[in-house]
Amino acid sequence: MIFLDIANLVEFGEADLDGRPIAEYLEKIEARELGFYDLHKQDTSAIKKFAAKSTHEHIVICGIGGSSLGTICLQQALTHLYKDKKLHVLDNIDPVMFTELEESIDFNKTLFIIISKSGNTPEILSQYAYFSEKAPAENFVFITGKSGKLREAAGDRTIFEVPENVGGRFSVLTPVGLLPAALLGLDIDKMLEGAAHMREKFFSTDVTQNLPFTLAQIQHKLNKPVTVMMPYSQKLSKLSDWYSQLLAESIGKNSTTGITPQKALGVTDQHSQLQLYNEGPNDKLLIFIEVTDLGPELPIPGKSYSFNKLLKVELDATRKSLTQNKKPNLTIKINKVSEQSLGELFMLFEASIAFLGEFYNIDAFNQPGVELSKKLTREALDL
Ligand code: PA5
Repeated sequence: MIFLDIANLVEFGEADLDGRPIAEYLEKIEARELGFYDLHKQDTSAIKKFAAKSTHEHIVICGIGGSSLGTICLQQALTHLYKDKKLHVLDNIDPVMFTELEESIDFNKTLFIIISKSGNTPEILSQYAYFSEKAPAENFVFITGKSGKLREAAGDRTIFEVPENVGGRFSVLTPVGLLPAALLGLDIDKMLEGAAHMREKFFSTDVTQNLPFTLAQIQHKLNKPVTVMMPYSQKLSKLSDWYSQLLAESIGKNSTTGITPQKALGVTDQHSQLQLYNEGPNDKLLIFIEVTDLGPELPIPGKSYSFNKLLKVELDATRKSLTQNKKPNLTIKINKVSEQSLGELFMLFEASIAFLGEFYNIDAFNQPGVELSKKLTREALDL
């Protein structure tokens, strides 16, 4: 269950958040025929079957951007829920990553998951070309779209498909995120349940229920050039990376609109970024993520408070300091870090981006800037 605390927006209050016709915006979103909000209905039996059969010692994911950030987030957030499977995510092509990885894996006992929605991303095709010379052909599985070079390379080996109408950065709840999660032993049904729960809110025309709409309205109305995501949970630090891509690629359009994502971590960045947030330019919205249940209390010897309490007091103090300095901030509260709450959070942010795109009157679902750089790379190398 997610709760949105918007008491500290400073520049306007809750009462200013009604008036926009949710139904009309929902109609516009539906007209785009997107798939990201219907993924709870997908058949996951093939994913589960594949995961149950896998006996590999290591799993290497070759994917970049939307094809890796969701998995990195899940891997980091849910370590307490899975056994020690060695998952390596290769989301770069710096040669050192390959040589270091090779030192730690046995190619015969490693599963390679090659992920590219377009199937044509040069980095991923190159990673595949590299590993296909080293590991047995049957150790590869592919997650890709209907066409593209990766699909051709897969031949008759196992392919999981990314639905056409789900863009890369919205694909964490497709096989892109679900297959690695299932291989780790995570409960993917719970993730989809969480997403379905938030989807209901997304389609509610009651503004008090529609958290994605409220969040998008705040970002749009405040019109701050920067959104800082600051989870007070070590486990959620990679959620900010996932959200950065979602916000940056979806809203940065036409040389006119854009919100710059900034990542911060409580309490760590109180001691590195907070001075700027408190006394620097008033160009930011701070989004705190608070986890109510941080696990069993960890007492501090000789103190009357635990680490759990100290972290909460520090979050409160940070919030108060910003509010005193008239810097708008809001808090997203979740009960605990779990498959369910991650599913809810993914859907909350994806749906809020869909509204935000409509508010700015842009296509939040394309990425021509990214495609241009891919095209220029292909041209330069004659790929
Ligand atoms: O959101 C997007 O579409 C992009 O950022 C992609 O995720 C990224 O470029 C990787 O593309 P692909 O999955 O096609 O290899």
